[in-house]
Amino acid sequence: MTDKKYKKVLITTAIDYANAEIHIGHAYEKVLADAIARYYREIYGKENVFFVTGTDEHGTTNYKAAQKAEIPVEQHAEEISKKDKAQIDSLNISYDRFIRTTDKDHEKTASEFFAKAVKTGDVYKGTYEGFYCEGCEAYKTLSELNEDGQCPLHTTRQIQRLEEENYFLKWSKYTNRLRNLIENEKDFILPISKRNEMLSFLKQGLMDFPISRPKHKVPWGITTPTDKEQVIYVWYDALVNYYTVGKNQDLWNEETKIVHFVGKDILRFHALLWPAMLMNIGLRVPDTIYTHGFINLNGEKISKSKGNIIRPNELVEKYGVDATRYYLLKHGPITEDVDISLGHFEEIYNADLANGLGNTVARIAKLAESSGFEFEINEFRDLWKEEWARPLEKYRVDLALQNIWKMLSDLDKHININEPWAIKEKSKLKEILDFEVNSIRKIAVLLKPFIPDTSAKISEQFGQKRIKSGESLFPRI
Ligand code: MSP
Repeated sequence: MTDKKYKKVLITTAIDYANAEIHIGHAYEKVLADAIARYYREIYGKENVFFVTGTDEHGTTNYKAAQKAEIPVEQHAEEISKKDKAQIDSLNISYDRFIRTTDKDHEKTASEFFAKAVKTGDVYKGTYEGFYCEGCEAYKTLSELNEDGQCPLHTTRQIQRLEEENYFLKWSKYTNRLRNLIENEKDFILPISKRNEMLSFLKQGLMDFPISRPKHKVPWGITTPTDKEQVIYVWYDALVNYYTVGKNQDLWNEETKIVHFVGKDILRFHALLWPAMLMNIGLRVPDTIYTHGFINLNGEKISKSKGNIIRPNELVEKYGVDATRYYLLKHGPITEDVDISLGHFEEIYNADLANGLGNTVARIAKLAESSGFEFEINEFRDLWKEEWARPLEKYRVDLALQNIWKMLSDLDKHININEPWAIKEKSKLKEILDFEVNSIRKIAVLLKPFIPDTSAKISEQFGQKRIKSGESLFPRI
């Protein structure tokens, strides 16, 4: 439902590091955000929704990957960014902009953002002594490392011990405002279960935070506008991508609902650092940070080094784009980690798509065709305000899909109970088929945000007065 406060929506995903091509885990987030962006377009109007994804290209991770590949870092970042974009395109992600942090407008905005921060007086020069994980591109405390002294998320990388000059943001100064934001704005961190995690992190106390790094150590970054020997810390640079777009599109204002989709590993940057950066220079904070868990593959972490990896385009080539989208979305905005496998994919494909959807559509098309009737075209209004769509207000695509599949199974039962093939009386048959045809037409519309190509195919097939049988939507595998 439209939130009356807002006229527009800015919806974003995390931007992926350009060190290696994305896999199905990264892509899951894009599909989830895409379904919500498409849903918002239905309720706010196409022109009032702006959806952004892209690549995060500066910093040490990207720089070292280019060195390893023995090509210039600009070229490496460009090649990976292109591959990522192709992966995202293969999933029919309807982004309005694919941003790269090497885009000129972004570099300019990030630099201006930094300059403004320096002017507030909340940025000071100091020395950072401590740990840094290049995989997370994050400063770490001793308590965050495992018993081997490594980052638990990146055990194959050596943790760095830094002693360097940086510009620090007085993060601690924002503790109370951040706590109020998290406690009072009930939709700021979703799902709710993640809110306490951030509140307890705040309780431990925030440390002031380096927002730049020396250029002689990190040569690949945006030079700070106030000191030519420093580059903007990659997270400070990357987070500003949301504002680059928001500012350019005139969306960073109170009229716009701002929603970020991110994985659980980067919630802290989005829920605690990003709002502090915005408060620091007097800009509005986002409305929602939606956090999802991780996709595992065959019971294990997705990992290139272990060879446990699938790219989105491989699934799309094998099963089709909508089947891939459906499989990922059926899991919903996962709160905990979820396991996927090809075996499970095929089970779901056959049960929900070949049988559930494909079969019901085919049955009704056939009955409609053989009846010889004409079916008046109906317009469906306010479908997005109906009960079935309510879970989408809290981003629960899984529950919305369950509601649609319940309609499908009810429809299938309706056919079985009424046995239209056995009805002799024309008016009775027409009444029953009218209901069934219109139900499918309606379901086709409801499917738009999730499986847009299939939705269009069904709408086209049932968009005529005389309905004809068509090709199978999802042939069994
Ligand atoms: N570049 C940063 C984000 C900056 S946003 C201003 C980054 N990049 S990443 O490439 O490591 O991850 C991008 C997104 O993909 C994150 O939200 C991350 O949680 C998500 N995922 C990475 N692997 C994933 C799974 N296996 N499953 C689900 N999401 C996954 O962090």
